[in-house]
Amino acid sequence: MESPSPIRPFEVLFDNAEPSPFTDEAYAPYGNFGFPPPPADRPWVYSNFVQSLDGITTLLGSHGSGGEISQSHEDRWLMDLLRAHADGLLMGMNTMLEEQRSRGLQSRGIVFQVADPNLRGLRKRLGKERERNIFVTRATDLDLSRYKVFDGDVVDSAVLTSPAGAARLRSQGGHPHVAILAAGEGEAFDLPLAIRKLRQELGVEYLLCEGGPTLYGSLARADLVDEKFMTVSPVEVGQIVPPEQERLPSEQNIPTLMRPTVFGGPGFTRENVTHWTWMSCRKAGDHQFNRYRRKRS
Ligand SMILES: NC(=O)c1ccc[n+]([C@@H]2O[C@H](COP(=O)([O-])OP(=O)(O)OC[C@H]3O[C@@H](n4cnc5c(N)ncnc54)[C@H](OP(=O)(O)O)[C@@H]3O)[C@@H](O)[C@H]2O)c1
Repeated sequence: MESPSPIRPFEVLFDNAEPSPFTDEAYAPYGNFGFPPPPADRPWVYSNFVQSLDGITTLLGSHGSGGEISQSHEDRWLMDLLRAHADGLLMGMNTMLEEQRSRGLQSRGIVFQVADPNLRGLRKRLGKERERNIFVTRATDLDLSRYKVFDGDVVDSAVLTSPAGAARLRSQGGHPHVAILAAGEGEAFDLPLAIRKLRQELGVEYLLCEGGPTLYGSLARADLVDEKFMTVSPVEVGQIVPPEQERLPSEQNIPTLMRPTVFGGPGFTRENVTHWTWMSCRKAGDHQFNRYRRKRS
């Protein structure tokens, strides 16, 4: 686990969100932090991303992780605060693959968890059980034994996939502790149904999506994102990978390699763009920390 670094207190510019559930020293650097009750049939879904001034979430290449855009201890701490309140942490499989790739060939990837001891304490006081990492994948060739997160010793884990993907994973055996939730038909995956199953079958009331852009885009298209936590890092990186950046083997043969924004895949038309209320804004140094809530009429 990463060792936490000291952080500066956040300067609150404004905050219209719910009050914290109780007074607790762990909230001190951030101040007020609460959520509304979850909807009846699915979890409250909140996302957390960091982006550059020009809206980019990853540099791609050998420095592809979000941390390379963030470069902020406060942003890392806020990630822990958000994780402390989550019953499940949802990610697309590429986000795990990127963490594994950046750690070298022998790596079995990482386990996503709260690193800050004060926030681990807060999580307990919130009555939260073991942390749970949840991955979305078609599971065309996913070998669960290649990833530490599926060992079951540190956190609980789950996979959301199609019925065909679920059958492939179950046939591997040896991972009875990994919850495999099938939704859809054959190879087709039904994301909204999978999110509802997280509530019905695993009791997930607050679900934190940490990316990546592909998963976020499909959640947003299905109007499943209730809130967005968005850190703006004071760096400008540009969307097209410059010729001097070394490319990974998987990035070769793409004439114009584009860095993604938060929202991967098809978006909206003018008629159906989504609207959001700006709930809060904080700063720490030159980083800006925003919270937006989906406006549904
Ligand atoms: N700046 C930030 O805050 C931030 C946050 C997270 C990630 N990132 C960066 O973003 C990059 C990864 O993003 P990404 O967009 O390539 O990948 P991603 O969203 O993490 O993962 C995409 C994969 O997840 C599965 N998936 C996602 N949505 C699905 C759906 N609706 N149905 C079925 N499967 C679905 C598929 O897995 P299979 O291919 O296995 O079927 C798909 O290939 C990495 O560089 C990471 O470091 C940045």
